[in-house]
Amino acid sequence: MRISVLGTGYLGATHAAALARWGHDVVGVDVDVRRIEQLADGVAPFHEPGFAELLREGVLSGRLAFSTDASAVDSADVHFLCVGTPQLDGGHAADLRALWAAVDALAPRLRHGALVVGKSTVPVGTAALVQERLEDLTAPGHGVEVAWNPEFLREGHAVEDSLRPDRLVLGVASDAAEARLREVYRQVLCDGVPAVRTDLQTAELAKASANVMLASRISVVNVLAEVCEAANADIERLTEILGLDSRIGPRYLSPGIGFGGGCLPKDLRAFSSRAAELGVETASQLLGAVDEVNVYQRQRAVDLARRLLDGRPRGRQVAVLGASFKADSDDVRDSPALAVATGIAALGACVHVYDPEAGHHLADRLDLEVRDSAESACERAELTLVLTEWAQFGALDPVALGRIVRRRVVVDGRLVLDPHRWTRAGWQVHALGRRDPDPQLDTRRRAG
Ligand SMILES: NC(=O)c1ccc[n+]([C@@H]2O[C@H](COP(=O)([O-])OP(=O)(O)OC[C@H]3O[C@@H](n4cnc5c(N)ncnc54)[C@H](O)[C@@H]3O)[C@@H](O)[C@H]2O)c1
Repeated sequence: MRISVLGTGYLGATHAAALARWGHDVVGVDVDVRRIEQLADGVAPFHEPGFAELLREGVLSGRLAFSTDASAVDSADVHFLCVGTPQLDGGHAADLRALWAAVDALAPRLRHGALVVGKSTVPVGTAALVQERLEDLTAPGHGVEVAWNPEFLREGHAVEDSLRPDRLVLGVASDAAEARLREVYRQVLCDGVPAVRTDLQTAELAKASANVMLASRISVVNVLAEVCEAANADIERLTEILGLDSRIGPRYLSPGIGFGGGCLPKDLRAFSSRAAELGVETASQLLGAVDEVNVYQRQRAVDLARRLLDGRPRGRQVAVLGASFKADSDDVRDSPALAVATGIAALGACVHVYDPEAGHHLADRLDLEVRDSAESACERAELTLVLTEWAQFGALDPVALGRIVRRRVVVDGRLVLDPHRWTRAGWQVHALGRRDPDPQLDTRRRAG
């Protein structure tokens, strides 16, 4: 099939490359000239395991092309909308300007009977508006149809999630649209991936609802962690016990500095905002609390750092390991790690940051000093914080690192360090929710 993909960010570029792997002829279109030049040259514009290889395979096979010219979509019969839907400046709703720009650019180029498939995460009701707009912008009887096929990929696992998703959601208004989508995904359907057919609005809700569930779970765990701290209980044993409950399961049960990235926070807020528009006030009450608890974890980490610097952070040297919002990604959008690093720098500390892949995003930052290795960031540090769960941080040698730092005090914001190993090497290991190894600090903390 000939397919176009509008928007070639983390979602669109990966989706386009996956479509090419499945044998389709694909063109990715974006307004970002530099991004398109890189992709067309087979160069990955972001870090995502396995993506560079998949991209090169598609480009070299001739099945995957990229362009900034909207006319490149002319020969396609199926068009995927994968543009960004960020949080509106100064509000909680989704900013749909890129989506409408893409729809307007696409409309005059659609062939008769084309299928336009939304993949971006949008407020419920958007697909119906896209259908209306396309009908307004095309000749009567043109037969353009809109479907919604939300994407569930996780950054850091985008390639494997695209090639082998947990499930496909086919939001359609006709059997013909379903048949066309099944043709697009023939390969994964043959591999046994389950597909759920539903209406457009349920499909739109599917993605936002998944993120609402995950975000709520993380905030609940972080509340439990704070209660554990206050009650001198053990959050790690507690989550182990909870995880063994077959109704709960072990995933997304790790306490820490909270969720972030380009999706979860903004999807939570957009969902809440749309629910309020629909008159469902309970949604914003619940999700507002989930959001608040999440943002509060960042402040808790900054407060802990201040205490560990004896309340005198100004001029003290601090090492921050991790800047991306999660491991195996260079995405720093709404990153908790970066927010904590920024918060500590705002206290006047000299913050040296190292991230295996995201350092290039920090080049313009005046408040943070970017280092090219964990060791270099930790040199003479009085406090070290591990804020992204990169595997290489879990594998750090606490003995060797202990020789580099000025004080062996570490905050494990993601529970990736083995506390026994680090303690044996002479480190004081702190973590949100974990019993404090320094009884004096613990008493001060409880005293408020
Ligand atoms: N990143 C993820 O893990 C993920 C997962 C599932 C769903 N989503 C959703 O997918 C959508 C895209 O997310 P992303 O992370 O890829 O965003 P992104 O910011 O990485 O990419 C968006 C791309 O759209 C391009 N764009 C903007 N206006 C355009 C236009 N008029 N025509 C063509 N291209 C245009 C931008 O230049 C950019 O390259 C969002 O709705 C997001 O919520 C993202």
